[in-house]
Amino acid sequence: MHFYEMSSRLIGDTVSKVTDNVTTVVLAASVITLILGYVSKVLLRQSSDKDLKYPPYIPSSIPFLGHAIAFGKSPIEFLENAYEKYGPVFSFTMVGSTFTYLLGSEAATLMFNSKNDDLNAEDVYSRLTTPVFGKGVAYDVPNPVFLEQKKMLKTGLNIAHFREHVKIIEAETKEYFQRWGDSGERNLFEALSELIILTASSCLHGKEIRSMLNERVAQLYADLDGGFSHAAWLLPGWLPLPSFRKRDRAHREIKNIFFKVTQKRRQSGEKVDDFLQTLIDATYKDGRPLNDSEIAGMLIGLLLAGQHTSSTTSAWMGFFMARDKSLQERCYAEQKAACGEDLPPLDYDQLKDLNLLERCLKETLRLRPPIMTMMRMARSPQTAAGYTIPVGHQVCVSPTVNHRLYDTWDKRLEFNPDRYLDDNLAAGEKFAYVPFGAGRHRCIGENFAYVQIKTIWSTLLRMYDFDLVDGYFPTINYTTMIHTPNNPVIRYKKRTQ
Ligand code: HEM
Ligand SMILES: *[C@@H]1O[C@H](CO)[C@@H](O)[C@H](O)[C@H]1NC(C)=O
Ligand SMILES: *[C@@H]1O[C@H](CO)[C@@H](O)[C@H](O)[C@H]1NC(C)=O
Repeated sequence: MHFYEMSSRLIGDTVSKVTDNVTTVVLAASVITLILGYVSKVLLRQSSDKDLKYPPYIPSSIPFLGHAIAFGKSPIEFLENAYEKYGPVFSFTMVGSTFTYLLGSEAATLMFNSKNDDLNAEDVYSRLTTPVFGKGVAYDVPNPVFLEQKKMLKTGLNIAHFREHVKIIEAETKEYFQRWGDSGERNLFEALSELIILTASSCLHGKEIRSMLNERVAQLYADLDGGFSHAAWLLPGWLPLPSFRKRDRAHREIKNIFFKVTQKRRQSGEKVDDFLQTLIDATYKDGRPLNDSEIAGMLIGLLLAGQHTSSTTSAWMGFFMARDKSLQERCYAEQKAACGEDLPPLDYDQLKDLNLLERCLKETLRLRPPIMTMMRMARSPQTAAGYTIPVGHQVCVSPTVNHRLYDTWDKRLEFNPDRYLDDNLAAGEKFAYVPFGAGRHRCIGENFAYVQIKTIWSTLLRMYDFDLVDGYFPTINYTTMIHTPNNPVIRYKKRTQ
């Protein structure tokens, strides 16, 4: 009965016979999807219960690609228009797959409360993550095992470690921004991306791995990161593409580095209290410790999970503060009020008193949540808003859209950190604000991300006064799944206290 499963299996079979030409693969896949899609639609119509109502389907005149072009150009606009026309639940086709979005807090409930066996994450994420993280972790293992791994990671992200992290991050930030000098115009996003590899490596990997982080290793991370591409998403993994080869080589080399460090740590007998040690000491419920391959996979996963999310968020936050000078001055004044007029080195307890800075970060995550869509595969029929979502649909929730629905948010597009001081509509809706997701797949890195980004921005606000360059506030680059700022150059001038 599962026509969608059947069609994807057939595509797989056909594809594995075509070995020389990517275009042929794509064409063959599209023809088969089209035919099977049609056949299954006809059959489904005949066999389905008359009472079943499928979500409204947005028609497209372009076969196979469907709405990929319109969506790719401006996903937010596309989804908001669809919301107005079709309501909170609707389906459409892109590159041969059918996507069903659940927009707004109420519809999103289906995803966040679902079991992984019904709305499955591995089915959609594993083909991207497993070649990058490796086997035995995250979406390569049954979800109950991943949940145990997440628990181990969470143990390592504790307050005692955060106290150390604040010092490390402040030092790394000061050191990195030395090169910016007293004033100028520079690419803020690039700088923060480079800085956050360093800070994340120090805090989440430990001092040994951080000390090995040179340009060559940074290039390996970049090659590994190149594994998260549209090609890896759409094309079969065995294709001999240069980016796949680079990814696989980088994966092996990085793992070898991590193996050596982990083994040395195990042998030294010296108990360093850091994140790596937490993983070395961690055990599953049945008492089995993590092996070196699992530890290495988790270390890679941590770095990449925290890298793009935190670097884009901190870059956008910088531009929001540069645009609103009075807000920036209030944040600087808060540094002095909370930490002392002479601005002594940061510490974790003071960081907690930086309420305005925290609200700025919260508001940045509202308007520019780095994960714009969470996805699951429907493995069993699902019900939302009175519609039946059939097996094989990719079910999606978009924080970006939920965070700006006009029926939920007052002055929805305005950057206003003080909105959280008042009672607001969104507070009454459970999933109106979900930058870190919810339910069983919820992020475990939220507290670390807050510590990291608040520490970086405290340090930068103390060093510089920021301005937009000739009033330019970056437009959004929709090329990748994480929406980055276009031409992210900022103007800065050293503060004279
Ligand atoms: C601003 C920073 C971050 C944002 C906005 C963010 C966002 C998210 C979101 C939306 C999810 C849910 C994905 C889904 O349901 O499909 C998630 C999951 C996760 N994140 Fe984060 N994240 C951030 C930083 C981090 C950091 C720093 C780490 C690690 C230290 C991390 C590790 C994870 C892990 C392990 C998961 C679990 C995935 C699962 O269970 O399927 N994240 N994150
Ligand atoms: C580590 O554990 C995984 C199970 O999660 C297993 O598949 C793998 O073979 C083990 N690796 C080593 C080197 O023992
Ligand atoms: C948009 O992002 C892509 C991928 O990261 C990058 O290659 C491109 O240069 C970016 N465009 C602009 C205008 O910054």
